[in-house]
Amino acid sequence: MAVTLTINGQSIQATDSRSLFDYAEGLGIDVPTSCRKQGKCKECMVEVVEGMSALSEMNEAEQHLKGKFRLSCQTSVIAADGNVRCHTMRRGHMRIERQAFGLPLSNRAFKLEPAVTRDGDRILIDGVEIERTTGPILGIAMDLGTTTVVLRLVDLESGEMIADTSFENPQRLGGSEVMSRIAYDTAHPGRLLMRTLAGYLRHAIESFPVDPKSIYEMVVVGNSTMRDLFFRQSVYSIGQNPYQSITEIEKSEGKRTTTSLVQTGQQSLLPIHPKARVYGAPIVSGHVGADAAACMLAVDLAHEERLIAVMDIGTNTELIVGNKHRILAASCPAGPAFEGGAIACGMPALDGAIEAVAISGDGTFHVGVIGDVPPVGICGSVLVDALSELLRTDRMNDMGRFTDGVQRITLCSGKDGDMFLLESDVNELAQAKGANVAGLHAVFSSYGIDFDDIEVFYLAGGFGRHLNVEASKRIGLVPSLDSTKIVQAGNTAIEGATIALLSKSKRQELEELVKRVEHCRLETHPSFFEFFVEGCQFKPVEPIPCAK
Ligand code: FES
Repeated sequence: MAVTLTINGQSIQATDSRSLFDYAEGLGIDVPTSCRKQGKCKECMVEVVEGMSALSEMNEAEQHLKGKFRLSCQTSVIAADGNVRCHTMRRGHMRIERQAFGLPLSNRAFKLEPAVTRDGDRILIDGVEIERTTGPILGIAMDLGTTTVVLRLVDLESGEMIADTSFENPQRLGGSEVMSRIAYDTAHPGRLLMRTLAGYLRHAIESFPVDPKSIYEMVVVGNSTMRDLFFRQSVYSIGQNPYQSITEIEKSEGKRTTTSLVQTGQQSLLPIHPKARVYGAPIVSGHVGADAAACMLAVDLAHEERLIAVMDIGTNTELIVGNKHRILAASCPAGPAFEGGAIACGMPALDGAIEAVAISGDGTFHVGVIGDVPPVGICGSVLVDALSELLRTDRMNDMGRFTDGVQRITLCSGKDGDMFLLESDVNELAQAKGANVAGLHAVFSSYGIDFDDIEVFYLAGGFGRHLNVEASKRIGLVPSLDSTKIVQAGNTAIEGATIALLSKSKRQELEELVKRVEHCRLETHPSFFEFFVEGCQFKPVEPIPCAK
């Protein structure tokens, strides 16, 4: 008898007390580590999805972990038989959007003007010498998301991208959304989340084909919580009404003039030049972060005459509406449904995730799967496809009820059983959608415009990039605009971070832009609840009467 141990989808018979790390190595799986299995670096974490009771007790080195997480170097299989399934935090193959599309400032439509310059063999930041070398001058733009992290390595003299990389944010050990990360960071002194991420970033930077010490500047964007955690700020206040970053509070008290943050390479714990400047872009508010600010730079809002809207759909959907004359921003707490969380067969956009659903005339379901593998789950964006198809074929009504009285609809057979949707899954998506639609109505009505006034509607982020727009309009996730107005823009945050890295003027523009944004607090809008109830229904989003 032996335990069948499955790590990142590969199986082996566990017959002795070797650690999960050792077994992973035997399978050729690259487990992140800086301490070589000493229990110190905390990087070798795995998420155990089955068979936790077959594993050794948690030890002292794992006291910071909860739920399904373990340190693979400290954990061994102790049962005589059964199944254990786990995966490392760097699963590979996760579909992470690294590119941006259809933006006005793409193709370097701005002057190359980096803060780091060369004078002979002198390397200067804003005119101050930090190094003497004739080597390259490089920089990194980073989009630090709750779920994923994207890095771009850029030559600051040519503006060309040398390499990019992305990975799942290992801070998931502190929960999957920002509020649990805040609670975790508050309850665990020692900046564990920051240090865990820094370990992963170190590996990512060292894997670039350059000397990390030739990286002299880094621009970091991300939601306020992720950004502040990276800069070792307390994030406690972001979790408490009125949900403000410590930088906002200090700014309002006159202790700082901007919400942007700066530290040195050395302080960042990264292997870049120790005197490098690490710049955290400014935020709009506790829930409209530096990623949204970078997005405004990427869509060139400071010079935009047309009325535009940007919607970045995620666990926290961000909305920006306006032009160079007036800008309104809001954030909608949509929850994890869009990322496959809280859904019976939900999973992230990894290999094996169903990413497309269609129903043919005879009622047969047809599914598309990421990677050339049998389906193992359903990713968030495909819920939109699936519900649109159920609605179109009258198998679901606009209240999200299955019309033939069943509680569950099977899409296909998967690797480990049927892939299905429950009415409760539909309800999860209805509520996430309701929050988004309420946000749209609240922002547009506060602005005094309706949807038809918008000339460009950017769907930002990885979710928006892979969304079926027609299906989204049918179920009422995005407004029923002419499709020529909708741009599925991809990762606008990394694009904005790159622009800020390459241009001092654009960075200054970003600093000025955030000061002009009016933050629309949805919870205080008098019709928010009404909008939310309306938005939970599966029908096209209608314009609402507004005071023009
Ligand atoms: S390898 Fe460092 S804690 Fe496990």
